[in-house]
Amino acid sequence: MANQEDNLLKNIISHSKEYGFIFPSSEIYDGLSAVYDYGQNGAELKNNIKEYWWKFMTMMHDNIVGIDSAIFMHPTIWKASGHVDAFNDPMVDNKDSKKRYRADVLAEDAIAKIQDKIDKEVEKAAKRFENFDKAMFLATNGRVVEYQKKIDEANARLKDSMNSSNMEALKQLIIDLEVADPISGTKNWTDVRQFNLMFSTEMGSVAEDTNKIYLRPETAQGIFVNFLNVQKTSRLKIPFGIAQIGKAFRNEIVARQFIFRMREFEQMEMQFFVKPGEEMKWYEFWKEKRMRWHQTLGLGSENYRFHDHLNLAHYANAACDIQFNFPMGFKELEGIHSRTDFDLKSHEKFSGKKLQYFDAEDNQNYIPYVVETSVGLDRMFLSILSKAYTEEKLPARPAGGEDGSDRVVLRIPPALAPHKVAILPLMKKDGLAEKAEAIFNDLKFDFRCFYEDKDNIGKRYRRMDAIGTPYCITIDHQTLQDDTVTIRDRDTMKQERTSISNLKSKIRDSVSIATLLKQI
Ligand code: GAP
Repeated sequence: MANQEDNLLKNIISHSKEYGFIFPSSEIYDGLSAVYDYGQNGAELKNNIKEYWWKFMTMMHDNIVGIDSAIFMHPTIWKASGHVDAFNDPMVDNKDSKKRYRADVLAEDAIAKIQDKIDKEVEKAAKRFENFDKAMFLATNGRVVEYQKKIDEANARLKDSMNSSNMEALKQLIIDLEVADPISGTKNWTDVRQFNLMFSTEMGSVAEDTNKIYLRPETAQGIFVNFLNVQKTSRLKIPFGIAQIGKAFRNEIVARQFIFRMREFEQMEMQFFVKPGEEMKWYEFWKEKRMRWHQTLGLGSENYRFHDHLNLAHYANAACDIQFNFPMGFKELEGIHSRTDFDLKSHEKFSGKKLQYFDAEDNQNYIPYVVETSVGLDRMFLSILSKAYTEEKLPARPAGGEDGSDRVVLRIPPALAPHKVAILPLMKKDGLAEKAEAIFNDLKFDFRCFYEDKDNIGKRYRRMDAIGTPYCITIDHQTLQDDTVTIRDRDTMKQERTSISNLKSKIRDSVSIATLLKQI
C-alpha cells in the first residue's frame, strides 16, 4: 500500500475510535484479532446503512420479502452447501517469523509484482518515445514479453493447483516465484495446508462429535432452507426474492485492513428465485440495480467498478464483484452470483424434502435458479468512512466567520449520518438552554438530534463536523425575540437565519432515506 493510502487508513482507524464509531473488541484485554465493536455513532451509521438496503430491497420491490433466520442451523446444511468440504483457504507459515499467510494470496501478490514491472517499463517507454504504441511495445519488447510469459504461467499454475486442491503444487509455485516473507525476509516455508474457515461449537451439554454445529459463514443458506416456507406463506410467484441481514463468521487466516476482513461480520444478502433459463437476464438486472444503489450515495461513480470472476465457483454459471476504491485500492465490496439450482437441489438431496415450485402458468414443477446479491455491511461502512473522511485546511476567515483552524469533517451522505441535527444554545444562561431544549423536544420525533451546551460554539461545530452531523442549529439571544435560529451546513459551513417553524421542512428532504431511494 502506498504511504499516503496507508496513512489515510490509519487516520480513519484512529478517528473512528476517538469519535465513537469503532472500537477494538475486548480492548481492555488487549483486543481480539479481527473483531471490532461499533460505538454510539458507529451503531447509528450501521443501522442507517441497513435501513437503506432493507427498504430498497423490501419496500421498493413488491416481490421481495425479508426474513431473519437463526445463526445456528442443522449441521447437514453446511455439508449440503459444500462448506464442510470446500470452504477452505490454503495456509502456509514462515518457519522463521512464525507468521501465517494465505498461500494463494502470496502467489497473487508475487504475480502482481511482476505486473508492476511491466507497468513501469511501459511508463518509461511512453515517456521516451513520441507516438508510443503500447500494444506494439507489449508484443515486441523482449523483457516485457518474458515477464508476461511468467505471469501467464504462474496464473495457470495457481488456477490448476486451487481447482485440484493440490497443495504441493501451490507450495512449489511459491518457491518458483521466489516469495520471501516480508517480516523475516526468508523463503523458509512450511507445507501448504487446507484450512476450513468455519467456526464450530457444540450444541447441548455433552461434547460429542454428533453435537458439532457451525456458526454460519454466510446468511444465504438460511434463505435457501426457508425457500418453501416463505413461498407458501407469502404466495409470491416466481420471480421473487428473499432478503436477509445478519451476522456471519469466518475464521480468516489473515484478517487485516481494519473492518475490511473480519472474523465476525454482517452480510446483507438477497436470493432472487427465477425460472431456469432466465437467470442471465436477472443477473444483468441485479448487476445494474445494485450498482445504482451504491452510486446513489454520492461517493463518486469513479470509485466503483465491476470485476468479473474468471474462476467460477462450482455452483455458479456467472459471477462478479462490485469493487470499491478503498484506501488499499479497488477491492470487493459486493458479490453478485448466478448460483444456478445448486443450493436448492443439494438441500433436496440431503434433506430428502422436495424444494420445488409449481409454476401455474407453465403447469410444471421445477427447482428455481437463483441470482444472489451479497454485500458486507462492514465493508459498506468502511467504503463510506473512507470517502467521507476529509482533512480540511481552512482559510483565515472561512464562510460563517468561524475560526480559521483546520478541521476533520466526515462528509457522510446526510441520510446515513448518525445524527441529523445538533441543537446548540450559544450559552446556557438567559433562557437560551430552555429554548434549545424546547426545539430539541419538538425535532426529536422526526430526526435523531444531538444536544450540547458545553464549550464555545466553534469547538462544538468541530465536534459535529467530526461525527458528520449535517446541520447545526444555534439558539442565540435573537431567538428569544423573534423565534429564529441559525442553521449551519456541515459541508459549506454557511449559516443562514431561519424561523423555527421552517426547520423541519428545511431539513427533512436532505436527510431522508426516502430521498435517496427515489433517486435510484
Ligand atoms: N453468500 C455469498 C457470499 O457469502 P462472499 O463473496 O463470500 O459471498 C459476500 O461474501 C460479501 O460479504 C463480500 O462481498 C464482502 O462484502 C463480505 N465479506 C465476506 N467476508 C468478509 C469478512 N471476512 N469480513 C468482512 N466482510 C466480509
